[in-house]
Amino acid sequence: MDQQVTLIATAAMGLEAIVSKEVKELGYENVQVENGRVVFTADVSAIPRANLWLRTADRVKLLVGKFKAVTFDDLFEKTKALPWENFITEDGEFPVVGKSVKSKLYSVPDCQSIVKKAIVERLKKKYGVASWLKETGAFYRVEIALHKDEALLTIDTSGSGLHKRGYRVGQGEAPLKETLAAALVQVTNWHPDEPFVDPFCGSGTIAIEAALIGQNIAPGFNREFASEDWSFIPQKAWDEAFQEAEDCANYDQPLNITGSDIDPDLIDIAKNNAMEAGLGDLVTWKQMQLRDFKPKQENGYLVSNPPYGERMGERPEVEEMYRDLGVIMRDHPSWSVYVLTSHEGFEKLYGKEATKKRKLFNGFIKTDYYQYFGKKIR
Ligand SMILES: C[S@@+](CC[C@H](N)C(=O)[O-])C[C@H]1O[C@@H](n2cnc3c(N)ncnc32)[C@H](O)[C@@H]1O
Repeated sequence: MDQQVTLIATAAMGLEAIVSKEVKELGYENVQVENGRVVFTADVSAIPRANLWLRTADRVKLLVGKFKAVTFDDLFEKTKALPWENFITEDGEFPVVGKSVKSKLYSVPDCQSIVKKAIVERLKKKYGVASWLKETGAFYRVEIALHKDEALLTIDTSGSGLHKRGYRVGQGEAPLKETLAAALVQVTNWHPDEPFVDPFCGSGTIAIEAALIGQNIAPGFNREFASEDWSFIPQKAWDEAFQEAEDCANYDQPLNITGSDIDPDLIDIAKNNAMEAGLGDLVTWKQMQLRDFKPKQENGYLVSNPPYGERMGERPEVEEMYRDLGVIMRDHPSWSVYVLTSHEGFEKLYGKEATKKRKLFNGFIKTDYYQYFGKKIR
């Protein structure tokens, strides 16, 4: 497994530093943080490990090459010069997708077909194929991404996005992406034996991600990855990565996690999702309105994604809820409170300035993550 590869863990805006921390925790060094991505070089076993373990990255892409391209000739020749045969087999199926931002080569369909032709030519020569490449084998999604005339050629190792953990069998109206939910939990200092509550849990994403983190269960344990069929990654690397995930899971770690929501149907959905995630009844689910929430222990963590009140007519109700939350938590100063919302008046309604704020995007919605650090009782 000596072959070195450069991997790009793509990240939603604002999550790059969290993804980078995760990459370093997996033991990889020389990690570069760029806008929307974290780049690192490692041996090929990093492909299974990164896919299995990264909780907050969107995908893991394999970097094949990077160069300046201002003409189609440039793009063709420099793409053809890359060692595609190191990755794509003779029978590999390799569609090319693309994007172009602020670049002279702005026609994405043209860039895609030029890249496709260049790879076909390279592979035909390397494999000594005179006619067609069959493309009946393993799947390699190649991407040409142009940004300010720099071409980045990658192959997606993940398949479906890493937020697809395989446990979401149902969802509510505005479910949080699993990767973002994991990030919300990871920026807290929560320790798995401390109380953890999401009183607006919807389909349960935050509480489920907290439970997976709490028991150190690899988020990708329940799914498949595109690169599982790639022959340049030894089967041993996959076997070892899955074995490592099994060995590292701490199923004996007790958890004290509760998700509640006003909507009983969502509580049923959350329960099913938790079952699907293999958590059994490790998480307590409860139908309850926020007003009835009363922390019963000390030193807890409330992490939540309440309604934002963006829809007409919803706002006064949502603002009342934020006030209620402030009143409830005022009496529990040992609790840390973390709330993600796009409502700019949150702190005022809650009645307290946040200890810390972090700008994050929930899909296309600009939000702030308001963080109130509790004063722990020892
Ligand atoms: C933005 S969604 C949460 C989505 C959740 N994070 C997920 O991933 O599915 C907000 C949730 O707050 C719930 N909700 C609205 N008003 C409530 C109230 N007064 N008390 C408790 N929950 C409420 C809604 O039913 C909805 O599920």
